[in-house]
Amino acid sequence: MTTYLIKGARPLGGAPADILVTDGRIAAIGDSLDATGAEVVQAAGLVALPGLVDLHTHLREPGREDAETVQTGSRAAALGGFTAVHAMANTDPVADTAGVVEQVWRLGQEAGLVDVVPVGAVTVGLAGERLAELGAMADSAARVRVFSDDGHCVADPALMRRALEYVKAFDGVIAQHAEEPRLTAGAQMHEGDRSARLGLTGWPAAAEEAIIARDVLLAEHVGARLHVCHVSTAGSVEILRWAKSRGVRVTAEVTPHHLLLTDACAESYDPVFKVNPPLRTDADVEALRAGLADGTIDAVGTDHAPHAVEDKESEWAQARPGMLGLEQALSVVIETMVEPGRLDWAGVADRMSVRPAQIGRLADHGRPIAPGEPANLVLVDPTARAAVDPAALASRSRNSPYAGRELPGRVVATFLRGTATVLDGKATR
Ligand code: DOR
Ligand code: ZN
Repeated sequence: MTTYLIKGARPLGGAPADILVTDGRIAAIGDSLDATGAEVVQAAGLVALPGLVDLHTHLREPGREDAETVQTGSRAAALGGFTAVHAMANTDPVADTAGVVEQVWRLGQEAGLVDVVPVGAVTVGLAGERLAELGAMADSAARVRVFSDDGHCVADPALMRRALEYVKAFDGVIAQHAEEPRLTAGAQMHEGDRSARLGLTGWPAAAEEAIIARDVLLAEHVGARLHVCHVSTAGSVEILRWAKSRGVRVTAEVTPHHLLLTDACAESYDPVFKVNPPLRTDADVEALRAGLADGTIDAVGTDHAPHAVEDKESEWAQARPGMLGLEQALSVVIETMVEPGRLDWAGVADRMSVRPAQIGRLADHGRPIAPGEPANLVLVDPTARAAVDPAALASRSRNSPYAGRELPGRVVATFLRGTATVLDGKATR
C-alpha cells in the first residue's frame, strides 16, 4: 500500500500542515514531516476536509445501467470529493430485499472508489402498501440503516408510523421523500406566479410541509429517527426548527441545486431543470441557506439523479425529474455558502461529512483529521474556477443543470482509507 505525504494542506482551512497517510490511516500530522519512500502530494494552498458523505445518490444499477452504474457513479462521487455515498432504493428491481442490497453493496466493493452504502426501500416495490423486509436488510452484509422510498412518499400515516417503530430496534432511520401525492397530481414545477404564467401544473409548498409536519409528530410520538430528504421550502425549514426545539429526533438535507437555482430556470422550458421537489423561489433559497448555516438543516444531500438522454431531452411534461449532482456539489456549496461567509470550512466538513456520516451510522467516515483516524480525505483548491462541461463528467448521463456555469473549487485528490481514488483531479481507476 502506497504511503502518501501530503505537504502543506490546510486541515479544515486552518494552518498549513503535512499529513502522513499510511496503512489506511492518518499516521501523523505536523510541520515538515519526512518519510522516505512516501509519494509526496504537493498541497500548498489546498484545503483538507474529511471525505464527503452523500446521503442521497441514485446509482441506477440494477436496471438502468444506460443512465449510470455503480462503477460510473462511484467515479463521479470520488471526483466530487466523496468517500461514501448512500445508493437510493428506486432501482429495478427495487432494493427491497436483502438480496438486492447485498448486490449493490458488492458492486460498490468491486468498484472500490467510494463506500457504496445501500439504502433499503421502506415498502415492497415502493408501492406504499406493505413494509419491506427491513430487518433482513439491516442484518444483511450491506448492514442497511437508512430506509427510503425516495421518488415516492410513504404517504399512509399508519404505515409510516409502523416503519418508524420497526427501525428503532436496530437504530435505523426512515428518510422521507415528503410529498403529499394528492396535492401534486400532474405537477411539473413549483406552484406560484411563474407556474400560472407558464401554464405548467404547480407543486405547492404545502405538499412538502404537510408531510414533514405530520412525520415530525409521528417521530416524536414513537421516539424514532426521521430524516427528511431534499428540503425545498422556507416553511419546511420553519417546521424543522420547531421540531428540533422540541427535541424530536429529526434530521434533514438540502440539495446543491435547491441552494443555487430557482423556478426562474423553468422559463427556459429546458427539462434539465425539471426536478422533484421542484426548484423554488428566491425566498425559499434564502431560507434553505440560512437553515443550513444555523444547522437546522443538517446536511447537503446531492440527489444525484442521472437520466438517459431520451428521458430528459423531450418536452417538459414528458421528461423525468432529476439532475446530476455529485461532481459539482462541493463547488455549489463553496459558491452559495463559503464565499458569502455563511459557512467556514469546518462548517462544510460538518454538513457534508460529519453529520451525514452520523445520520447513516458510518463509523469510518466524517471523522476528525487526526492521527489514528481512517484516511478518508479530500483535498480541494478553493480558488480554482472553471466552467462546467457536461461532456467531461464521469457520470454516464449528461443532465447537469450547471452546464456552462463557472463554479469555484476543484477537487485535487480524494483518499479512501489511504488509497488515492483521485489524484491531480483525475480518477485513479
Ligand atoms: O428529481 C428526482 N429524481 N426526485 C426524486 O425524488 C427521484 C429522482 C430520481 O430517481 O430520478
Ligand atoms: Zn426524492
